[in-house]
Amino acid sequence: MDEPRSIPSPEQDAALAPVIGHALKRQVLVCTSKSCVANGSEAVLEAFRAHLIEEKLLFYKGNQAGEVQCSHCGSVGFCAIGPAVLVYPDGIWYAHVTPADVPEIIESHLKGGVPVARLVRKHLG
Ligand code: FES
Repeated sequence: MDEPRSIPSPEQDAALAPVIGHALKRQVLVCTSKSCVANGSEAVLEAFRAHLIEEKLLFYKGNQAGEVQCSHCGSVGFCAIGPAVLVYPDGIWYAHVTPADVPEIIESHLKGGVPVARLVRKHLG
């Protein structure tokens, strides 16, 4: 019989996953599955990371005060209209994103709270 699984304390969680203790405001997910990569999503992901670092917004080891986490994700079904970029908790899904769009998304949406309407294809909630 398996031992009952013990639930870690909040202190143990914080030691194992320091991100738990930081006040992230948003997550940016860039699809890096096959079709989005074929349409340039890796450059979009790099543009987000570079601009977010410049703006001191990116949460990473070098800036744990950053308010935005940015990472890649698998296909979300926008394969024919990628690169797909998702912003949470807003539930905004952008399509056809290029590196040139990234500064506008950061300025308008991530800093200003106003999604870039011309690129939005789906809004959850
Ligand atoms: S490959 Fe990016 S949404 Fe499907």
